[in-house]
Amino acid sequence: MQQRQQLFLIFSLFLVFQTSNGHNITRLLAKHSSLSTFNHYLTLTHLAQEINRRTTITVLAIDNAAMSSLLSKNPSIYTMKNIFSLHVLLDYFGAKKLHQITNGTALAATMFQATGVAPGVSGFVNITDFKGGKVGFGAEDNGGSLDSFFVKSVEELPYNISVIQISKPLPSAVAEAPTPGPSELNITGIMSAHGCKVFADTLLVNPEAMGTYEDNVNGGLTVFCPLDDAFKAFLPKFKNLTASGKESFLEFFGVPVYQSLSMLKSNNGLMNTLATDGASKFDFTVQNEGEEVTLKTKINTVKITGTLLDEQPVAIYTIDKVLMPRELFKAAAPTPAPAPAPEEAADAPKASKSKFKSKSAPEPASESDSPADSPDDDPADQTADDNAAASFKGGRFVVVGLSFLLVLWLL
Ligand SMILES: *[C@@H]1O[C@H](CO)[C@@H](O)[C@H](O)[C@H]1NC(C)=O
Ligand SMILES: *[C@@H]1O[C@H](CO)[C@@H](O)[C@H](O)[C@H]1NC(C)=O
Ligand SMILES: *[C@@H]1O[C@H](CO)[C@@H](O)[C@H](O)[C@H]1NC(C)=O
Ligand SMILES: *[C@@H]1O[C@H](CO)[C@@H](O)[C@H](O)[C@H]1NC(C)=O
Ligand SMILES: *[C@@H]1O[C@H](CO)[C@@H](O)[C@H](O)[C@H]1NC(C)=O
Ligand SMILES: *[C@@H]1O[C@H](CO)[C@@H](O)[C@H](O)[C@H]1NC(C)=O
Repeated sequence: MQQRQQLFLIFSLFLVFQTSNGHNITRLLAKHSSLSTFNHYLTLTHLAQEINRRTTITVLAIDNAAMSSLLSKNPSIYTMKNIFSLHVLLDYFGAKKLHQITNGTALAATMFQATGVAPGVSGFVNITDFKGGKVGFGAEDNGGSLDSFFVKSVEELPYNISVIQISKPLPSAVAEAPTPGPSELNITGIMSAHGCKVFADTLLVNPEAMGTYEDNVNGGLTVFCPLDDAFKAFLPKFKNLTASGKESFLEFFGVPVYQSLSMLKSNNGLMNTLATDGASKFDFTVQNEGEEVTLKTKINTVKITGTLLDEQPVAIYTIDKVLMPRELFKAAAPTPAPAPAPEEAADAPKASKSKFKSKSAPEPASESDSPADSPDDDPADQTADDNAAASFKGGRFVVVGLSFLLVLWLL
């Protein structure tokens, strides 16, 4: 009883904390009809979600009249995303602070710079407080011209988010450069270059699965690619699958919709994959734990460790281990064992962490099919609790800790 109540308390406090820190840029801008086009594009490009996730930021908004010059160039939605992400400064500038900039000028990093797409200084915005109180803005790769000016403060929630209107879009050759459409994306190339080469190579020699991925690139695709060490160690098991098993297995790591990281973080639940086909479910569960996003099946749990690409409609993330579909693998191998396998250690009444790991016994492929293509294996250790995930760990743990303290205090 006691425990239930405590759990409930923890849970509800957690919810309260989670929702109260949120500003909603869509809602903030909705009060200002002259900014409706800008607002519309923030939603279309999914930047709104990224903005809602962050604090200490400044959005440089453009009114409908000034937006038309931008739209007349017919940029693709991907280019729009780059342009607008240059209009989100990763620092808080209210009207007051703009006029108190040390030495009258500053360079602000932007969300465009943070995407890693922008080379050199092209993701920075120069803010200069001119004599007479005029404040000018310009992209740093713009040859020093500052021809967009502060118009007015739109919304200020210090020091979470400030929305200020500027007179016109910041021109930037880099941000405005045509972004390759999704069909020109080389997804295996991107994976190969960033730690998922073994998975990409395996995909490339399986034309059926590769075709399934390609068919989905335009309509929306999210890929979770296992990092090289993990996938390499898994190859013996993979080679053991039938041809159709191999195809389904590879397709299992793709989801036929675009999911940005913030979408994943706000949606726990079952997810179908490219391998899902009627009775063959081939699904997995997305589950957030603090700032971590994990994917789990009945067999194992893996976590997202990094983002290789997040450009609507395609996202590619790395995962630390090979997620195993229950359609192809058995839970724990009940080897000729005396000890009954301690399946998922039965429920301690805890809401916090139910980490169950079930290991299938690692056995060397004795009757391996083609000895030729087995690469020098392999550090059999799949114990990959690697630090790449550190980048996702963040404030929310603090929040959890705080709610625990609060609970203790309340008792
Ligand atoms: C800013 O965010 C914090 C949580 O991060 C919240 O407690 C506070 O109310 C927010 N401030 C405003 C002005 O919205
Ligand atoms: C933000 O506000 C808009 C408009 O009110 C709403 O449709 C949307 O669901 C809100 N987003 C979040 C994350 O609350
Ligand atoms: C402001 O100018 C002074 C003197 O020119 C310089 O020493 C200082 O570093 C500048 N501060 C900033 C923040 O640029
Ligand atoms: C911003 O641009 C102006 C004009 O080109 C230049 O004088 C100033 O030094 C720049 N500020 C910074 C911080 O680079
Ligand atoms: C995609 O990238 C891979 C690996 O970098 C390369 O071998 C392949 O030729 C590329 N495909 C295309 C169509 O560019
Ligand atoms: C391959 O499959 C056989 C028969 O199902 C099984 O006995 C063997 O352990 C498997 N090898 C690996 C590496 O999974």
